[in-house]
Amino acid sequence: MGLLLFSPYYRIQLPIFPTLILLLSLTFSASAANSSHNTFIHCLVNHSEPSHPITSAIFTPNNTSFFSVLQAYIRNLRFNTSTTRKPYLIITALHVSHVQAATICAQKHNLQMKIRSGGHDYEGVSYVAEVPFFILDMFHLRSIEVDIDSETAWVQAGATLGEVYYRIAEKSKKHGFPAGVCPTVGVGGHISGGGYGNMMRKYGLSVDNVIDAQIIDVQGKLLDRKSMGEDLFWAIRGGGGASFGVVLAYKIKLVQVPETVTVFQVQRTLEQNASDIVYNWQHVAPNIDNDLFIRLILDVVNGTKDGTKTVRATFIALFLGDSKTLVSLLSKSFPQLGLKQSDCIETTWLRSVLFWTNINITEPVEILLDRQPQSLNYLKRKSDYVKKPISKEGLEGIWKKMIELVDTILYFNPYGGKMAEVPSTAVPFPHRAGNLWKVQYQANWNKAGKDVADHYINLTRVLHKYMTPFVSKNPREAFFNYKDLDLGINHNGKNSYSEGKVYGVEYFKDNFNRLVQIKTKVDPGNFFRNEQSIPTLPYRKN
Ligand SMILES: Cc1cc2nc3c(=O)[nH]c(=O)nc-3n(C[C@H](O)[C@H](O)[C@H](O)COP(=O)(O)OP(=O)(O)OC[C@H]3O[C@@H](n4cnc5c(N)ncnc54)[C@H](O)[C@@H]3O)c2cc1C
Ligand SMILES: *[C@@H]1O[C@H](CO)[C@@H](O)[C@H](O)[C@H]1NC(C)=O
Ligand SMILES: *[C@@H]1O[C@H](CO)[C@@H](O)[C@H](O)[C@H]1NC(C)=O
Ligand SMILES: *[C@@H]1O[C@H](CO)[C@@H](O)[C@H](O)[C@H]1NC(C)=O
Ligand SMILES: *[C@@H]1O[C@H](CO)[C@@H](O)[C@H](O)[C@H]1NC(C)=O
Ligand SMILES: *[C@@H]1O[C@H](CO)[C@@H](O)[C@H](O)[C@H]1NC(C)=O
Ligand SMILES: *[C@@H]1O[C@H](CO)[C@@H](O)[C@H](O)[C@H]1NC(C)=O
Ligand SMILES: *[C@@H]1O[C@H](CO)[C@@H](O)[C@H](O)[C@H]1NC(C)=O
Ligand SMILES: *[C@@H]1O[C@H](CO)[C@@H](O)[C@H](O)[C@H]1NC(C)=O
Ligand SMILES: *[C@@H]1O[C@H](CO)[C@@H](O)[C@H](O)[C@H]1NC(C)=O
Repeated sequence: MGLLLFSPYYRIQLPIFPTLILLLSLTFSASAANSSHNTFIHCLVNHSEPSHPITSAIFTPNNTSFFSVLQAYIRNLRFNTSTTRKPYLIITALHVSHVQAATICAQKHNLQMKIRSGGHDYEGVSYVAEVPFFILDMFHLRSIEVDIDSETAWVQAGATLGEVYYRIAEKSKKHGFPAGVCPTVGVGGHISGGGYGNMMRKYGLSVDNVIDAQIIDVQGKLLDRKSMGEDLFWAIRGGGGASFGVVLAYKIKLVQVPETVTVFQVQRTLEQNASDIVYNWQHVAPNIDNDLFIRLILDVVNGTKDGTKTVRATFIALFLGDSKTLVSLLSKSFPQLGLKQSDCIETTWLRSVLFWTNINITEPVEILLDRQPQSLNYLKRKSDYVKKPISKEGLEGIWKKMIELVDTILYFNPYGGKMAEVPSTAVPFPHRAGNLWKVQYQANWNKAGKDVADHYINLTRVLHKYMTPFVSKNPREAFFNYKDLDLGINHNGKNSYSEGKVYGVEYFKDNFNRLVQIKTKVDPGNFFRNEQSIPTLPYRKN
């Protein structure tokens, strides 16, 4: 019954390859409406351990909890509409054997599986698809075992970053982990896609600090680093887990943090010399002490005079040290900012996470265990890399464009430090030495409707296009964790190397080739696939 819900929709959605789609669709709805669907469930039951029954993990659309389970980890409201393609089934894995059963049975029944951990994929790739699909939901598998003696932790895919930080700090005030700044992001997608945060200049990416992993491969086998081998272990540290297997857990290496860190947020509009400060930020932020990370956010706000708009620059920082040292450091290296002692807040590393995610720093730290974000939006993201400072004239042009568009935001995240030291082939993430900062383009809105969405999405595209002269080219690089389907789609069900190469080279540059080779070896049938997965090598005609 649930299948009939989406089959007609599916036909409308995909104007490309109509014959193939129609064929697939017919085959699917005929078989799936009853028998295939039921035999899939039988297969799941057959392949999970009797001591861990899978039936209580299976949700079909006629289960009253189906929609709340689906919505529980939707983090972009663009994909929470009545027309968003729905899965015909959700498996909320309670045990490893459920993951194995899903992997084996989906292949037996030729079904598309989407893997979801934290659900923060910007394009909803973990819970939406162009073809009939089911979701393997990992949120129950979220144990975190911290071992301070060895300075390591095993973290399961369904854990959130906030939970990881909280559990580390619970055991030690001197340890942390370099990962994203949003506490509700999931380990499974975040780490397998690279993972960066505000300690990146000191400690590199999350994947630079991963030392072991557990995955379920295409045969349903449980593998660790030793049994999967160094190639596959390399691939799942930034190449995206969903192309290679189901990540169950990563073993991470903890890093040292001081018991007191300093944070600040300083805002300047154009009238307050923002242009000059931003111009200098470009030279300072990627080169300064590795203990300091100064993110720059640019948005458009009302000017002081009625009806005018201005650009506001927000500098938000984490310093792994005390405020006195920080103020003295910046008065020498970045006097234009005019940082004062009173701008600085000394706190613990764990509480700095609250500050960075816009939660009052006096809130109980248990708020990091909340799996529900503070607020949800409709959103679109894009990314770029900057390798040369932008001239003053260039910046003026960007301000003019932003004021014209109004509703776009730019995030500049400085690189340098450790990021420039790690070789670009160490893990699939290739954007290392030579990059000054990464740009994230944002549009956020809070109204439903396709026209509204089209308007805002267009704004990010217009600004992205405008930025062309200032950013990397050949290829124009992009960050894989900032999923952007504008870069191209590997149409589901189709294994197109040429389609995959387009976004693949932007995300992974030369590492794309190695990812394709590993993919071809470990999953030649391309079972683990999605809109922007790594394709297998094209078949050679003899
Ligand atoms: C509010 C917000 C803040 C963010 N901040 C940062 C940041 O500071 N730094 C940063 O690097 N990124 C950041 N991101 C991007 C984020 O890292 C990626 O979206 C990441 O993929 C999310 O992981 P997830 O598990 O929550 O997402 P999901 O949507 O669950 O998964 C994302 C992708 O990974 C795949 N996947 C998920 N789990 C598994 C698994 N167990 N095995 C194999 N494949 C899997 C999915 O199929 C999908 O393709 C942010 C995103 C949001 C929405
Ligand atoms: C819906 O529920 C009934 C029993 O409540 C079950 O027999 C049937 O198989 C379910 N249908 C689907 C599509 O899961
Ligand atoms: C199963 O599907 C077939 C083909 O669509 C149909 O003829 C049959 O009536 C269905 N059976 C049930 C029990 O729904
Ligand atoms: C489940 O297992 C039983 C016994 O091993 C077998 O007869 C049956 O065909 C299996 N069913 C499916 C759907 O795999
Ligand atoms: C819905 O699914 C849950 C978990 O599988 C199960 O406990 C519950 O009984 C189901 N409800 C219905 C109405 O099928
Ligand atoms: C998602 O959509 C459902 C159904 O319309 C709605 O009930 C729910 O509130 C939405 N979620 C959010 C966070 O808006
Ligand atoms: C802007 O810079 C000028 C010259 O450098 C300085 O005189 C002025 O005080 C600054 N304005 C603000 C608001 O900082
Ligand atoms: C900005 O100005 C517009 C009118 O020009 C007004 O509608 C809006 O509320 C103002 N926004 C803020 C945040 O003050
Ligand atoms: C944070 O909360 C405290 C205590 O409720 C309050 O005094 C303070 O003003 C708040 N700070 C911010 C920035 O909102
Ligand atoms: C996109 O936005 C720009 C700038 O506002 C506008 O000129 C253009 O017409 C828009 N394009 C589309 C396709 O909406």
